[in-house]
Formats: sequence, structure tokens, C-alpha cells
Amino acid sequence: MPVGTQGTLKGLLPEQMEELDCRIMLGNTYHLGHRPGPELLEKAGGLHKFMKWKRSLLTDSGGFQMVSLLKFAEITEEGVRIESPHDSSIMMLTPEKSIEIQNSIGADIMMQLDDVVHSTTTGPRVEEAMHRTIRWLDRCLKANKRPSEQCIFPIVQGGLDPELRKQCAQELTKRDVKGFAIGGLSGGEEKESFWKMVTLSTDYLPSDKPTYLMGVGFAVDLVVCVALGCDMFDCVFPTRTARFGTALVPTGDLNLAKKMYSEDFRPIDEDCVCSTCKTYNRAYLHTIVTQETVACSLITIHNIAYQLQLMKRIRESILKDEFPVFIQTFFTTMFPNKQ
Ligand code: GUN
Ligand code: ZN
Repeated sequence: MPVGTQGTLKGLLPEQMEELDCRIMLGNTYHLGHRPGPELLEKAGGLHKFMKWKRSLLTDSGGFQMVSLLKFAEITEEGVRIESPHDSSIMMLTPEKSIEIQNSIGADIMMQLDDVVHSTTTGPRVEEAMHRTIRWLDRCLKANKRPSEQCIFPIVQGGLDPELRKQCAQELTKRDVKGFAIGGLSGGEEKESFWKMVTLSTDYLPSDKPTYLMGVGFAVDLVVCVALGCDMFDCVFPTRTARFGTALVPTGDLNLAKKMYSEDFRPIDEDCVCSTCKTYNRAYLHTIVTQETVACSLITIHNIAYQLQLMKRIRESILKDEFPVFIQTFFTTMFPNKQ
């Protein structure tokens, strides 16, 4: 899922997202709750209508962004208390408030408000956050005013502690929900513990419902984590890196600002079907990369297309029972000298 903050992705129109055959986009409760705000979204008949997006929307609950992006957050049993960076007003984001805002946005999938600690935190705080996340899930489920149109995904927390992860996943699966998320990872922990925690979480989650690994989006991690049982991902990385002039390709990435592309008349990726690759070459993109907005949009289109094509190829290989071959080809292309 590509990540938009306000009503759309930075530098792309919703119709361009549709053209890329993007089926689901992520929005953010914190940003949307601030602008345009829940009252206006209600009046507009929800975000789908407001932004002319007929496909699916998922909204994150807001707490994670508050805690990770902003300094002045205080977490209590009631919720997350935050001083707004816009006007220094106090906002109290409780599980009820988060769902109220997400109900006004009208996302097809809403995320529960969770108590997130940094992935390398240890000690009693990790256990407290895990248990609080379960209590907040029940408050979120109770607060949902449109349960038949908008579902809520619980989030497995528990830091890097196997016992806590297992306990959390087992407790969450007792609730009648349509899918689950794995949170609190990809925050700078060792790959070894990241993979272990993903595996543990998927081991205890039902395999017939979607599992969403939050905040993960490097191509390598997507391939590995699908193999470990995950189905959905989101990350700002492909769009953010595009804004710095970097294009994603099967062999890694290309920083188009580099001099070496100034006379390179090939497209970003010969095998890519996106409109950028069909029309423009690397030398042209290198030339305009300093003219931020246009270059940003063109590279963003390619990077989103790359991620969507990657996931599509993974799906197709699984359906054909050829995922192991896919993995082998993917890794030898990405790391040709490491055999
Ligand atoms: N985005 C990335 N990780 C997380 C997480 O643990 N919780 C929430 N709510 N959002 C996230
Ligand atoms: Zn492309």
C-alpha cells in the first residue's frame, strides 16, 4: 500500500494511482484529523468521495505517528495526549477518538489505536504496552459505529520478546475480526530478531485471514516477509526515496542525480510497464531531477509501479506454486555477486 498523508500521495493524483492499478491506499488519521478534519469529512461524505477514490482505503490509527514523529506525546491508560505542532493545542487521542475520526474518514480498514514502544525497548514497559494494546483494541471495537462497512485490524505488539508476541497474537485471535497486523518492528532492530518476531507472530495468527506487516517496504523485506506469512505492507520509502531522485529497480536502486546517468538513454527499467519508463529515459530524468516537482512525480510513478509489480509477481508465483524459484531469481538479480 502506497502511503498518502493528506488526501493523496505526495506528487500524484488519485487518478494516476488508479492508472497504476493500485487497489488500496493508506491514509493517516493524525494528518486527516487535523486537515480537512472530521467535520468536513462528514460533510463531504467521507474521504473516498472527497478525493474521488473508488478503491480501498486503510487508515492508521494515529498514535504511532504522534509518538514517532512528534516529541510531546504522553501515553496513559486513557490514550495518547499530544501537543499539536501546528498550534500547540492539546489533543487527546483515545481509542474512541481515533475510531471516531476513522469513521468520519470512512476507510475500509481501520487500525486499532495501539501502544507502541520503540522496537529496541526492553523491560516492563514492553509488557505494559502489549497488554494496553489489547485493552485498547476492545475499546476500539466497541466504539466502531459502522462495523458492517468499516472493519478494524488488531495489532500484535510485544517488542522483541517471543513470549509477549505469542501471548499477544493468541489473545487478539480470540476477537472476531477480518485481519491482523504486526506492529512495533522495523525500527532499527537486528534483521535476525525482526524475522524471528515476524515468524512468531504469523505462527499464531490464522492463515486464512490477511496479515499486515506495518511500516515495511524494502523489496528484500517484502519477499522475505511474504515467505514468512505476511500479505500486506505499507511504507513511505518508495515515495520518499523518489523525491530524492532515487528509482527502484530489480538490481537495487538508481540515484538519477548522479553524473553517470547524464547520457544514459535507457528507461529506468527496460522491463517496467509504467508510463515513466514507456516515455522518458534516464538522461532526461537526470536533467530534470533538480526541477523537483515534475521529476518527483515521474519517479514516484515508477517506484509505485515497481512495488505493485513486485507484489503481483509474488502473488502469481505463489498461485503457480513457483514461489521458491521466484525467491531464487529475485535474490540472484538483487545480489549477483553473493552466490
Ligand atoms: N506503523 C509502523 N509500525 C506501526 C505500529 O506498530 N503501530 C501503528 N499503529 N502503526 C505503525
Ligand atoms: Zn517504470
